[in-house]
Order: sequence, then structure tokens, then C-alpha cells
Amino acid sequence: MATCSKTILQFARTGLCKHNWTRSRNIWSLSSLPETHQMLYKTVRDFTEAELKPNAAKFDKEHLYPKNQIKKMGELGLMSVDIPEELGGTGLDYLAYAIATEEISRGCASAGVIMSVNNSLYLGPIAKFGNKEQKEKFIRPFTTGERVGCFALSEPGNGSDAGAASTTANPGSSGSWVLNGTKAWITNGYEAEATVVFATTDKTKKHKGISAFLVPIPTKGLSLGKKEDKLGIRGSSTCSLIFEDCSIPKENMLGEPGMGFKIAMMTLDSGRIGIASQALGIAQVALDCAIDYASKRNAFGSPILKLQAIQTKIAEMALRIEGARLLTWRAASLKDNKQPYTKEAAMAKLAASEAATFASHQAIQILGGMGYVTDMPAERHYRDARITEIYEGTSEIQRLVIAGNLIKEYGLN
Ligand code: CAA
Repeated sequence: MATCSKTILQFARTGLCKHNWTRSRNIWSLSSLPETHQMLYKTVRDFTEAELKPNAAKFDKEHLYPKNQIKKMGELGLMSVDIPEELGGTGLDYLAYAIATEEISRGCASAGVIMSVNNSLYLGPIAKFGNKEQKEKFIRPFTTGERVGCFALSEPGNGSDAGAASTTANPGSSGSWVLNGTKAWITNGYEAEATVVFATTDKTKKHKGISAFLVPIPTKGLSLGKKEDKLGIRGSSTCSLIFEDCSIPKENMLGEPGMGFKIAMMTLDSGRIGIASQALGIAQVALDCAIDYASKRNAFGSPILKLQAIQTKIAEMALRIEGARLLTWRAASLKDNKQPYTKEAAMAKLAASEAATFASHQAIQILGGMGYVTDMPAERHYRDARITEIYEGTSEIQRLVIAGNLIKEYGLN
């Protein structure tokens, strides 16, 4: 990475961040990263400690969208990490995005997914497939944290089977497109001011008849369903987007007609690196919490951290986290180097989400009763972790993607 973000570097250099290394774990792999990534990590870490960790329980309890924090993340350049600077983005790479998303999610998993959806699922496909006008209109205002976007693929009747979309886009007057249908489980739905949406323009062609569109919010004919009451990531909103004769200009098609399914799949490849990073942040904070507690809680005459039963648990947690982090950084680096990374992103997402559910489960076991009550954050990490095995492709779908790519690599398809 030749250049680096002015916003992040300015922040780091102004001394606004006081690097508090005394309480940090030793990140074994950090020193192997380029200087910019190390600086980014430290900056985001300090932001997380100051702005997210102290507030995450409140966001969760009150289902509060972290509006001020998202705005500050935008000022730091975190809402458009790999978007080129000429479009208002930060101009860093995907590895930087993965590192930043993990650190943000360590402080607040809701902020992590809000950031990830805006970066990967909303800005990502527009940066890759949008024309000049679309980029100006739908990227630039969404780079600063003032506005966020969303991604509308799933429907009430199809989640894993993404190619079975029943939402339609039919030609309207003067070349417009008229959308009808309901999109479900849309992260950022309540705050989003634009969405990338997938709809069938030619039913006879099945997945090859799906196209992608850009829809500003509000637009006449587009309404929001109820805000879902979720197990975790409760600071982020999730709802349905309901399209009823929703007319959009013809120039709002993203890419070519029929390219929608490929755009969705390629976007999810990148998105899965974001969710892997979110899961890593949750897993890491669960481990941090467990070690901290175990070092202070005494039983049988010493801190429980001295007990082998506890040590085997934290060893297993750390092992899974470090393995998943390697896979995640590898997938990000492959993307940065323009190498295929579909299989690696699926592996990263699968390993990191399973590490997060494992680590947060074990953290509660180590904390015992204190892990089960809201006085401590362990129960929130456990609830936040669960979704990472579901959204942007379930663990079952990741295994299918990995196997499908292996079969191709062996020339057996
Ligand atoms: N990149 C590019 N093209 C791809 C691709 C990829 N990663 N994966 C598949 N394709 C292409 C194939 O090459 C094929 O192209 P041709 O038609 O030209 O041959 C075409 O897409 C169809 O491929 P498949 O036959 O493999 O497709 P499928 O219908 O069997 O589905 C699937 C494959 C992997 C199961 C896919 O449907 C999938 O990923 N499902 C999960 C969807 C998902 O992750 N949803 C989450 C929604 S977002 C979200 O969670 C919300 C949020 O807000 C966080």
C-alpha cells in the first residue's frame, strides 16, 4: 500500500489518541504488518477504548443506534476504508479494513456490522460496478459517516437460495424501472439513505435474469417493515424494505441487465471478510474478558487462571482466534492482490464466526454465574457472536462454497 489515509494519519499524529499499551494484549502478528496498518490499528484501538467499549452495553440494552460514534468513525475514515480518495474515501486496502473492523467490533459488535455493511455491501459494489455519475451520487455522500447505505438481497421466502429472488423490476414509463416485492433482514435498514437492491428483470432466465439497482431512501413506493427485536447486535437496525410500485430512473441500474446475481455473489465474497473481522473482534473481546476475570477471581487458594482446567479453555479459544485471523488476513490480502479469494473468504468467515461462538461460550463458562448476568459483558458477546454464523451466508453455505471451489480446483466439476 503506497499511500495512506490522511484522516487516519492526521488523527494518529495529532496526539488525540494516547496509545495505552499497558493494558493491551500482545498482538503477535502486528509487527509483521506495514507501518500504516500498525498505526491504523493503534488509532482504532484507542477510539474503541474511548468511544465504544464504555457505551456498548447501553447501545445493546436500549437498542440504540450509535449515531455519534458512527459519525466519528466516518471522520476517522472508517466508513469508506478502501474507497479511493478521489471519491471521498480513505484509500486504504482491504487488509486495513479487516484490521479496523475487528478492532471496532471488539468494542461494539453493532458498530462493527454497521461499518461492515456500509463499506463492503453498499459502497463496495458501487465502487466496482458503478458508472461515474452513480459513484458521485451514491458513494461520495456515504463516505463520511453522516449517511449509511444498505444491501437488499434476501427475501422473506429466500435467504440461502439467493438466486430465487421474487422481487421484480419491470420497465415503467420513460425508461424507468418499477420495483415490487419485499426484501428481508436488511442491516442498517432504519438509518440507510440508499440501498443496493436485487430484482428480477427476466424471470425466464432465473439467476441470469436478476439485475442490481440503486434506490435512494426515501423514494415513493418504498416503505420499511418493523424494526426486528434481535438476540444480539441490538445497536444496529434490521428490517424489511417493502417495494410497492416503486419507480426509479433507468440510470439507477447498477451494471448490466442480468448481472445482478454475479454482483451479489462478488459483493458477498468481500462482505464475508468484513463479517469474519467482526466475529474476530467479538471472539477477541470474549477472550480478553475471560482472561481478565480469571486473573482476578480466586478459587482453591489462587486466581483461577492458574488452574489447568481454565488454561486449556483459554488456549483453545486463542488457537481458534489466531487461526481465523490468519485466514481473514489472507483472504483480505488475496483481494488486495487481485487474486481469487471466494474460497478463502468463506473459510475466513466460517472459522471466525465459529471461533466467536466458541470463545464467547467458553468465556461464560469461565465467568460462571457472572457470565450469565448483564453486570458483565460476556453474555452480550455470546448473543452478538451468534449472528455471525448466520448473516452473509450461514456456516452451512460457507461449507458449500468451500467444497464447490475445491471441486473446481480438482477439475471435477
Ligand atoms: N463470484 C462470482 N460469480 C459467482 C460466485 C462468486 N463468488 N458464486 C457463484 N457465482 C456465479 C457462478 O459462476 C454461476 O455463474 P454462471 O451462471 O455464469 O455459470 C452463477 O453465479 C450461479 O452459481 P451457482 O450455481 O453456484 O449458484 P447457486 O444458486 O447454487 O447459489 C450459493 C450459490 C453459494 C448457495 C449462493 O446462493 C449464496 O451465496 N447464498 C447465500 C446468500 C447470502 O449470503 N445471503 C446473505 C444476504 S446479505 C445479509 O446477510 C444481510 C446483511 O445485511 C448483513
